[in-house]
Amino acid sequence: MKTIGVIGAGQMGAGIAQVSAQAGYHVLLSDVDLARAEAGKAGIAKALDRLVTKEKIAAEARDAALALIEPVAGVETMGPCGLVIEAATEREEIKRAIFGTVGKVLGAEAILASNTSSIPITRLAQASPDPARFMGVHFFNPVPVMGLIELIRGLATSDATVASVEAFGQSLGKTIVHANDAPGFIVNRVLMPMINEACFALGEGVATMQDIDTACMLGLNHPMGPLTLADFIGLDTCLEITRVLFEGTGDPKFRPAPLLVKYVEAGWYGRKVQRGFYDYSGSEPVPTR
Ligand code: 3HC
Repeated sequence: MKTIGVIGAGQMGAGIAQVSAQAGYHVLLSDVDLARAEAGKAGIAKALDRLVTKEKIAAEARDAALALIEPVAGVETMGPCGLVIEAATEREEIKRAIFGTVGKVLGAEAILASNTSSIPITRLAQASPDPARFMGVHFFNPVPVMGLIELIRGLATSDATVASVEAFGQSLGKTIVHANDAPGFIVNRVLMPMINEACFALGEGVATMQDIDTACMLGLNHPMGPLTLADFIGLDTCLEITRVLFEGTGDPKFRPAPLLVKYVEAGWYGRKVQRGFYDYSGSEPVPTR
């Protein structure tokens, strides 16, 4: 597969497009309109510029990667793609609608993969043109930095599809793990209860926000404390995934922490709105409690 499609030019889609182009793939980077797709490419250009400044890559490598990224509006031009990765908004009806549209142009051998962090792959596959050529390919944020891809096969996913997407992931220099189609797959199954528990601890007054984060950073050697990481991921996303774990397993150990629910109800979604557990409007993050 020389040409791949990436649907959604936000943080995840742009990251996937960047690493794919750096690995030599021609990438059609799509969003609902051309302006958003072009904004995604502009963000990639900035990220690659930073790598050039830090002397991590040569200017020629930046130019070559950028030349391989073609912003497009919609998904109608994705006919030549051997692999299409959907990284659109994490809402099932949006993803289903995209699969219906892209299904009309996808080649007979082409694979459709979703970067969903929480929606069951077997259920999503029902909206895809061919469930045998559909699977989950879960990247981590920031995509250029994080070394992992989780592959999730649905009930009908073929071995050939898994082998092909695994080879693609390896060609990006990522390490592959295989997860079953269970709520949260591997990483979010383990991560979200930790973040949720940090929210319980904060709500119960176990420690201050900063001490919870410092404890996990220095006591566990995590690059970010759990509350800072929650702000980085998005508190709405953390709550959504926690609810998927709770509802998907029926196990009360996954019940969302009331404080997490409150912050989401307040619209304090984290870094993307400059306010979550911390306030990001100044030069340094400031705890909100
Ligand atoms: N794009 C590209 N490179 C980036 C980047 C970005 N958005 N952000 C940081 N980097 C690079 C920097 O250039 C730097 O590279 P260098 O060491 O080669 O110079 C390196 O990453 C370290 O960055 P900084 O020095 O600026 O900052 P930190 O040392 O604080 O690292 C971090 C930032 C890499 C984000 C680090 O804090 C980290 O790893 N945090 C945890 C991230 C994490 O857990 N992500 C997974 C979230 S879960 C998920 O995505 C799943 C979903 O389903 C919820």
